[in-house]
Amino acid sequence: MLPLNSIIHGNCLTEMQKLPSESVDLIFADPPYWMRIEGALKRPEGSDFSGCDDDWDNVFQNNDDYAEFTQKWLMECYRVLKKNGSIWVIGGMQCIYTIGATMQNLGFWFINDVIWYKTNPTPNFMGTRLNNSHETLIWATKDKKSKFTFHYKTAKELNDENVEADLFAKGQRKQMGSVWRFPVCNGNERLKNNLGEKLHSTQKPESLLYRIIALTSNIGDVVFDPFGGTMTTAAMAKRLGRHYLTIEQNEEYIKYGQERLRAISVVNDDVSQAKWDIKPPKAKMEDMISAGFFSIGELFYLKNTNETATLLENGKLFYQKEIYDMHTLAAKIKNVKADRLNGFNFWQVQRENSLVSIDSIRTQYRENLTAQI
Ligand SMILES: C[S@@+](CC[C@H](N)C(=O)[O-])C[C@H]1O[C@@H](n2cnc3c(N)ncnc32)[C@H](O)[C@@H]1O
Repeated sequence: MLPLNSIIHGNCLTEMQKLPSESVDLIFADPPYWMRIEGALKRPEGSDFSGCDDDWDNVFQNNDDYAEFTQKWLMECYRVLKKNGSIWVIGGMQCIYTIGATMQNLGFWFINDVIWYKTNPTPNFMGTRLNNSHETLIWATKDKKSKFTFHYKTAKELNDENVEADLFAKGQRKQMGSVWRFPVCNGNERLKNNLGEKLHSTQKPESLLYRIIALTSNIGDVVFDPFGGTMTTAAMAKRLGRHYLTIEQNEEYIKYGQERLRAISVVNDDVSQAKWDIKPPKAKMEDMISAGFFSIGELFYLKNTNETATLLENGKLFYQKEIYDMHTLAAKIKNVKADRLNGFNFWQVQRENSLVSIDSIRTQYRENLTAQI
């Protein structure tokens, strides 16, 4: 059984082996990057800068050692991921190429790589190389044929990139791209220990996890993170109404992470439900006739013409001694090149002395169905 909504204390290499196969819907992994930082990082005026020089990041002896670790945890991720699930892995230049190659060797299928462009990156204090202002995320599935979750319209709705602010306010949206701009985690969001110091050197921003979980999972799904840290993934999973499960080896991070999770409330809103991607219930003509929204024998009027056709019991239209589906007949009468037009945009019926579009009647039917659920 999966210990849902819990933090497992331990080494993910062994703890993951205890989890059932094909049991989680979404994995987010933020592994040690093996940053290979040597000596203290100094600001130009001489003060120390606390980068990621933690013991948990510095445990690897050489490339082979890191590659073996990567292979082990990714292999377990492959096993526990459901067949239509998704995995996201984040990394910097030091590790993402090893991770990517390992993922492909294990059989993961890449969907996208995403650049997290940091709007407030750590400067390259000494000016000796380019400022390192991004990290890379790999989004993959278990197989090329996986039917993974992606809320395309919700992504579009959340996308404020490449849209002028006034057009965005008016509801104009573009497809979400693969460069995401977010600041690194700072301010109140950054967890502090009892001494008021930064608790964790690589706490990820909530905005990043919120987006990943909202777009590639559903309410009630299980979101798993083998490297929990401050529990950012678990926190955003909880907020969005998903189950979380995470592993972390450091007790102090777990203690603060648990407090963080207790303070999170579930928000059931348009984003968590991916409202824009909810498909309307099916509305077949025969079903709408049975439900009394149309009647057999009634006249269908083709918009902006004097043509009419008669509705038959099977939902088709009778016109000049022939039977047609409404889409083909609309195209035929309008004499357009397409074989079919969307009949719901062209046919009308009479209701209380005026003509109304059959599309508006279909909307009423769907609203009725949704209200009954
Ligand atoms: C890059 S940090 C993750 C930060 C996290 N995403 C957050 O937002 O706070 C990696 C975490 O993995 C933990 N870790 C490293 N190796 C581990 C292992 N073998 N098993 C379990 N946890 C591990 C470290 O203690 C560290 O907290």
